[in-house]
Amino acid sequence: MYSKEVLSRRKFFILAGASGAGLLEGCSRSAKPAGSTYTAIETLGRQHAVTRRALAVMEKIKNSLNAQMVRSPEIAGGAVAIISEFMINYHQLMEEKYIFPAFASSQKTADLIATLRRQHGAAYRLTEILKPLCADLSKKDQENRRKAVNMIHLLTRMSLAHESWEDTALLPLLRVVAPGKAYEQLGYTLESAETQFLGPGGIEPTIQKIAGFENSLGIGNLDSFTPRPEDFS
Ligand SMILES: [Fe+2]
Ligand SMILES: [Fe+2]
Repeated sequence: MYSKEVLSRRKFFILAGASGAGLLEGCSRSAKPAGSTYTAIETLGRQHAVTRRALAVMEKIKNSLNAQMVRSPEIAGGAVAIISEFMINYHQLMEEKYIFPAFASSQKTADLIATLRRQHGAAYRLTEILKPLCADLSKKDQENRRKAVNMIHLLTRMSLAHESWEDTALLPLLRVVAPGKAYEQLGYTLESAETQFLGPGGIEPTIQKIAGFENSLGIGNLDSFTPRPEDFS
């Protein structure tokens, strides 16, 4: 069981910051301005896609550690920082503040949301454990590397399943529990939050950072994931 207290404190400090008031203000507006680009599901879908790229970077680091390769702590530490700042302290908090409450009266999704909340707590704990581990991945500390491999495995395995369930079992119902204007408003609130939490560039600087790590790890080209002809034999 993961500590809800830890998660609550984390939420309090972040949501009590400069962005909190603006978000609440955005929620009280009655209509989506003409400038809004994405619906709520589109915004969350993009965030999931960014998260999956960050998790793929973590998987690559894990494979390198298993192959006894030396990895720069800047890459591992930077990737963990993106998981912490983008996936946990931004994306998951947005879900807890704006998406999960929309399902409050739905008995059908109650167990699923309870599990999703527990997994948010677990992701936070795993990431906090990974931060110091990834600061030194030198070969001389094999125990540190072994533990980092295990924590990355637990984090990526859970997070990929977590997002797949959100995308297939929860978010398709969002328009049902928040129909019409409520859904439209949710889209605007999430889009506003992106700028307020991440800055004027929104999600793009995070994607650029991930792309830098992908390039350093040799997975910066999508085609690097395509099986080679000899792989089929
Ligand atoms: Fe989530
Ligand atoms: Fe999510």
